[in-house]
Amino acid sequence: MSQQHNSAEEEEEDYGPLLISHLEQSGISSSDIKKLKDGGYYTVEAIAYAPKKALLAIKGISETKADKLIAEASKVVNLGFTTAMDVHQRRQEIVTITTGSKQLDTALGGGIETGSITEIFGEFRTGKSQLCHMLAVTAQLPVSMGGGQGKCMFIDTESTFRPNRVLSIAQRYSLNGENTLDNIAYARAYNTDHQTALLIHAAAMMSETRFSVLVVDSAMALYRTDYAGRGELAARQTHLAQFLRSLQRLADEFGVAVVITNQVVAQVDGGAGMFNPDPKKPAGGNIIAHASCTRLYLKKGRGENRICKIYDSPSLPENECTFAIMEDGITDAVE
Ligand SMILES: Nc1ncnc2c1ncn2[C@@H]1O[C@H](COP(=O)(O)OP(=O)(O)OP(=O)(O)O)[C@@H](O)[C@H]1O
Ligand SMILES: [Mg+2]
Repeated sequence: MSQQHNSAEEEEEDYGPLLISHLEQSGISSSDIKKLKDGGYYTVEAIAYAPKKALLAIKGISETKADKLIAEASKVVNLGFTTAMDVHQRRQEIVTITTGSKQLDTALGGGIETGSITEIFGEFRTGKSQLCHMLAVTAQLPVSMGGGQGKCMFIDTESTFRPNRVLSIAQRYSLNGENTLDNIAYARAYNTDHQTALLIHAAAMMSETRFSVLVVDSAMALYRTDYAGRGELAARQTHLAQFLRSLQRLADEFGVAVVITNQVVAQVDGGAGMFNPDPKKPAGGNIIAHASCTRLYLKKGRGENRICKIYDSPSLPENECTFAIMEDGITDAVE
């Protein structure tokens, strides 16, 4: 088994995902490639990371074909061990996207991390959606300005996306308003199946253009309405786990920062809150906790100020900071 890398391959790796059409060189037919795309697989990484049974679930992919696909994909994608030094170097190269507040960026170790899932949770009007609008703009800034140099994809489940907010924030960075709006791919999701199906479109679009942020605002809201009773809890968690797994896949394959919001439900009448015995904890239980890499808990402060507590991060201490919500987006706290 050869562990050699030629520099061209390494370069390709650094400049984004390897598109699935690459497998034609390994003797995968173009009709099979079409089948894979129809099944939501657009990159060689997607094949390499998939369990075999997921490939078998694609229409027209037989056992033999699945084996060949896995074998070919593993030749180009490193699935084995590497050194900690290599991991260290790669982590230093991770782009973080500014939130607009220096204090919040510092608490986050630079900003919102690309290639992983960040969950923003908190009560209503704590600024979860405002932060999402903010990132939709800063996603587009050049890396030198704390941006992600890509487009933003915005999945809205509560109909709270407001282009006007984007325009105000764009002005702050002297960006052209129309271009900024054009660089946000927006979809309204109507139910949990739809929300999941949209991620297949997302993969297709991300394989064509560089996106740096994917927002799902809110990730949980539709689960609360689609699965209302306690009897449906298990089914809900299974569906939710699959949704989060697809998000993680997009983060891994395309290096996008996935940002999801989640409302904290106060337990009042045993309705939606019944899934959530501790009202200070976000909905979705352990499943969502395990999937999110960094969790931000937002609380109201005085006036425009909001407090952000960093939870559960694999590398950041649990700390708190304050920011403000202003007309031109998220800023440092006001006295
Ligand atoms: N143009 C603006 N200028 C200043 N503050 C604004 C502006 N627009 C909204 N806000 C503030 O943002 C807050 C609402 O935040 P946001 O919509 O992000 O809440 P949320 O956490 O998403 O709540 P929910 O759980 O209901 O979705 C309000 O307090 C509002 O005053
Ligand atoms: Mg909101």
